[in-house]
Amino acid sequence: MSRPRVLVTRAIPEAGLALLREECDVDVWPGEEPPPRAELLERLQGRDGVLSLLVDRIDAQAMDTAGPTLKVISNYAVGVDNVDVAEATRRRLPVGHTPDVLTDTTADLAFALLLSAARRLPEAERFVHAGKWKTWGPTLLLGRDVYGATLGIVGLGRIGKAVARRAQGFGMRVLAFGGASAASAGILPVDFETLLRESDFISLHAPLGPKTRHLFDKDAFARMKPGAILVNTARGGLVDQTALYDALASGALFAAALDVTDPEPLPQDSPLLTLPNCLVVPHIGSASIATRDRMAVVAARNLLAGLRGERLPFCVNPEVYRGA
Ligand code: DGY
Repeated sequence: MSRPRVLVTRAIPEAGLALLREECDVDVWPGEEPPPRAELLERLQGRDGVLSLLVDRIDAQAMDTAGPTLKVISNYAVGVDNVDVAEATRRRLPVGHTPDVLTDTTADLAFALLLSAARRLPEAERFVHAGKWKTWGPTLLLGRDVYGATLGIVGLGRIGKAVARRAQGFGMRVLAFGGASAASAGILPVDFETLLRESDFISLHAPLGPKTRHLFDKDAFARMKPGAILVNTARGGLVDQTALYDALASGALFAAALDVTDPEPLPQDSPLLTLPNCLVVPHIGSASIATRDRMAVVAARNLLAGLRGERLPFCVNPEVYRGA
């Protein structure tokens, strides 16, 4: 019997590729940047499976191009907003993702951003490098206290809860809106309005979709506590960046720390990059060596299960198995 033919849209860690090579003919896109659309479509033709990254748009056209051989889509991410899941479900194509293995790594980064923004670490580091450190100063680079402050979590899923645990260790009061709020000890479920009004810090962990796109717009920023800090390690589309710029530039917000932007990469001429109180890092929430290895193994196992006609270990559209 011929081996399944799969496309992997970037060189993921060897831990995952080795598993795939045992059973499949594997085409790995060799570039450091995503395959251009035409190249992606070309390489998808006649594939049995695709292992995609969050920057690859896997829509109806991509599925059509792969054609009737396509059995499974495995995304190397927990978020799947780059995949048209509704369309895949309509075609009874299982879509895999990589939850759990990246939870704590991503929560660590969210908390690192929160601390960095509160205590102005990037500004402080630039200050030293620029040779401006002349003496100790009573008002030099004053920030905000984290201990005792209120953290509002938007989207209390796995990562949101992991951030809450870290916040509790820092003596923060934790509020949450959206997700499994009620079930979690020491976290107060609140409505959006209360979260905006009472939080000194807001950390975003909701998936991006039609209901959450630009959840943080001009209106939401106007209702936030003056001097609050926004942290986003979820998806850039949750935030209206023009409104964020205005809120930061006017001083309505103390700072923002973004691991994700819209678009990615953030263009070099983005006004956000001119602001000293806006910290931006390049979508590295899950970027630890061990976690990226674990994600590769999970994504490979999802792909292999789909190729064998087995249930994916981590499937975002289990309804494809209904009635099977
Ligand atoms: C995800 O998995 O969705 C993150 O954004 C990257 O690991």
